[in-house]
Amino acid sequence: MAKIHPETTRTPQLPPLRGRPVTCGILFQVCCFVCAAVFALFVILFLGIESASRREIEVSVTDASLNNFTLLPMTDNTAFWIAYDMSFNITLQNPNTRIGIYYDLVDAYAYYAFRSFSAVSLEPFYQGHKTTKTLQVVFEGHSTMWDEYHPGFRGLYGEETRDGVYSIMLVLSLSVRTKYCNIKYRQDPPLVNCYLRVPLRSMEGKSHDATFEATPCDTLVIK
Ligand SMILES: *[C@@H]1O[C@H](CO)[C@@H](O)[C@H](O)[C@H]1NC(C)=O
Ligand SMILES: *[C@@H]1O[C@H](CO)[C@@H](O)[C@H](O)[C@H]1NC(C)=O
Repeated sequence: MAKIHPETTRTPQLPPLRGRPVTCGILFQVCCFVCAAVFALFVILFLGIESASRREIEVSVTDASLNNFTLLPMTDNTAFWIAYDMSFNITLQNPNTRIGIYYDLVDAYAYYAFRSFSAVSLEPFYQGHKTTKTLQVVFEGHSTMWDEYHPGFRGLYGEETRDGVYSIMLVLSLSVRTKYCNIKYRQDPPLVNCYLRVPLRSMEGKSHDATFEATPCDTLVIK
């Protein structure tokens, strides 16, 4: 405690503290300290419970439609064309009771034989707590692939064309902000992968596994 020099201060001199008042002062400080400690403990406990009860976003592909997936060799045979026309319905389920999520960047990639052949960016959106959101992702167009960079692509395609069911992987790359009360926290969660078996529309009813089955993806891990 700073010393008060009566000569240098203009404040009226305080009566000397002794006996009971000193004990009261200390008691008051102890009370303040205990209150602050209890408050801090509650805050920590509350945040701890909140973060422990934070649950991942469940992602699944509920519907898929594959209208075209055609591979055409180029004349020189070192590269090939791939023409595709497919769409997916991806469902995101937010099980949290108090956390909302802003999806600021939503990029979807389509992979075949571990190679990405198409990508689309979706509109940003907000998902409130305890809600389910369905996104429709459409990949349509064509790409050129070089055989030397994509070994296995043609091989797998040849095999799977017999049954008309393709092992397509969908990858979601996201940038999100979680909203809890009014606190927003920006983060780039790990990629969400969906390993799908997608039958060609024209094959439906012709083979035993020619209907698409809803498939769960990786969960979206939020902090
Ligand atoms: C996805 O949902 C839309 C309606 O939101 C529907 O029109 C479409 O057929 C569904 N399926 C696919 C594979 O896009
Ligand atoms: C698939 O796309 C290729 C290339 O654009 C086209 O030649 C073919 O007719 C299409 N097939 C179907 C079933 O739409």
